[in-house]
Amino acid sequence: CGITGYIGYRDAYPIIINGLQRLEYRGYDSAGLVLYDGTQINLAKTKGKVSDLVEKVSKKEGNLGIGHTRWATHGIPNDVNSHPHTSQSGNLVIVHNGIIENYDTIKKELINRGYTFQSDTDTEVLVNLIEEVQKNNDVKLGKAVQIALNEVVGAYAIAVFDKRKPNEIVVARLGSPIAIGVGKDKKEFFIASDASPFIEYTKDAIYLDDEEMAIIRVGKDVKIRKINDDSLVDANIQELQMNLEQIEKGGYEHFMLKEIYEQPRAIQDTYRGRLLRDEAIIKMAGVEDNMKKFLNADRIIIVACGTSWHAGLVAEYIFEEFSRIPVEVEYASEFRYRNPIITEKDIVIAISQSGETADTLAAVKLAKEKGAFVFGVCNVVGSSIARETHAGAYTHAGPEIGVASTKAFTTQITVLSLMALRLARAKGTMSSSVFRMYLQELELIPQKVEQLLSVNEHVKEISKKYLLSTNCLYLGRGYNFPVALEGALKLKEISYIHAEGYPAAEMKHGPIALIDDRMPVIVIATSKGHYEKVVSNIQEIKSRKGKIIAIVTEGDTTVKEIADHVIEIPDSEEAFSPLLTTIPLQLLSYHIAVMRNCNVDQPRNLAKSVTVE
Ligand code: G6P
Repeated sequence: CGITGYIGYRDAYPIIINGLQRLEYRGYDSAGLVLYDGTQINLAKTKGKVSDLVEKVSKKEGNLGIGHTRWATHGIPNDVNSHPHTSQSGNLVIVHNGIIENYDTIKKELINRGYTFQSDTDTEVLVNLIEEVQKNNDVKLGKAVQIALNEVVGAYAIAVFDKRKPNEIVVARLGSPIAIGVGKDKKEFFIASDASPFIEYTKDAIYLDDEEMAIIRVGKDVKIRKINDDSLVDANIQELQMNLEQIEKGGYEHFMLKEIYEQPRAIQDTYRGRLLRDEAIIKMAGVEDNMKKFLNADRIIIVACGTSWHAGLVAEYIFEEFSRIPVEVEYASEFRYRNPIITEKDIVIAISQSGETADTLAAVKLAKEKGAFVFGVCNVVGSSIARETHAGAYTHAGPEIGVASTKAFTTQITVLSLMALRLARAKGTMSSSVFRMYLQELELIPQKVEQLLSVNEHVKEISKKYLLSTNCLYLGRGYNFPVALEGALKLKEISYIHAEGYPAAEMKHGPIALIDDRMPVIVIATSKGHYEKVVSNIQEIKSRKGKIIAIVTEGDTTVKEIADHVIEIPDSEEAFSPLLTTIPLQLLSYHIAVMRNCNVDQPRNLAKSVTVE
């Protein structure tokens, strides 16, 4: 979910609405806002998107407001369950991300004390709990929030205000991010789940840490306290690097397409300053500073979710091949709940675009507790995982807004390749001439991706033929097996066509039973990746009348004869081929989804940043 808020001298309405639109990638089941105009609270909320909310807002006055865009957890998406929620007296208004796990117990107690509830949400319970604390203790809002939060179990980011004190907003975080934008001379403040809603107003931001709350008052310094022990924390104001252009569509029809096209630059930004070809070195501070740990490591365990998990699988092949370190790749959600065996000689690498995924963050904490050295590969600077890990490397892909991850994936692979190469040299598992060759190859990737993007029209033509398919199979081997998984995930996510990724050779152990003349099979058949074996797999599909879309290396002739369609990619070292083979698969899912009239950037039921478990 996304939170945004404003307090100051401007009209809050446009700031809140624009902010919600920018945060909509975080959840879009429902949206709502509240404005305070000096005398009364005006609340509007609705199931649906921020654009639906705009239709519903009648009173737009007020210099104080909070807004919310929701990804439902407790209570179905409907108008009543949408945020903000008001306390029984009507004095307090709250927006909340996360889950209050013990809400049921608290709700029962509150009902016994005469409270009634309009919605099924845990949030309405929380706002009434704060009200009850206020009543019983005669304390200010900040204190009441603090006492209430010490009673709840769960995760949250909240923003709350009391209409009797309209110069103040209280925010708090545990497990879900909150950024505070500080306006000039403290005459205004902005609140948001990430800094994108206020980037055009201020570059000064404070990020709350877990278990911290802040009292924001116009004209005053932001006061930050620890929720549990009340100790004061310094408000560390950071300068934002992001600019407005980065978070707008820039002429593209969808963020996803823009982000696909940004990959040449994003990959380059990832290795810029790290890959120094002339000197034949790779410089990564997070690796260098901890080289001893890397060299002594018995194994690397990679934890991640979704697309980041697929990047982890590619990295497994690369690390094992280049640096000869055993690698295990785990879904963060499975890892954390199965009492994993971890020792001080393990290195855990957590991969996360957002740096906020709840399961990955929990896996990081668990690995730390067990004594492992934990390294983060994140895109969002200053995100929770980036801060929680011992060291790390940012991907520098720039903001990724489309829910289906694209440039995050390729830049994650780039960072992990750099790490594997660096370690290969340090361990002596790669000769200096081979190392140099790989550096050169990696530097050529952005150019090759650029060239490859010209297949867009061709892929669009192919997409037309398959937009009514109900199932799809993606096959790849070796480095491109994870790409097959990722290709299938992309199609599922945005076009709602059922798709499965499989190692090509495993097809005969099951999926082959599904193949008939209505089944498109996308096969990655690069020239260096067990080519002959894959060609045999393609023959097997052909004899069962499957429709074959093959991703081949430029100049291929064999597969061309058998496949229904071929998409050519530039030649490269096999280890880096996922950076290329992924691109047409992203485009394929994109075009199919557009032709099926799906909401590409905000597919149903998904969210960009899953801060619940
Ligand atoms: C969500 C997103 C996916 C993403 C996954 C992991 O499911 O919809 O696109 O791959 O979370 O996110 P992370 O930010 O940790 O990479």
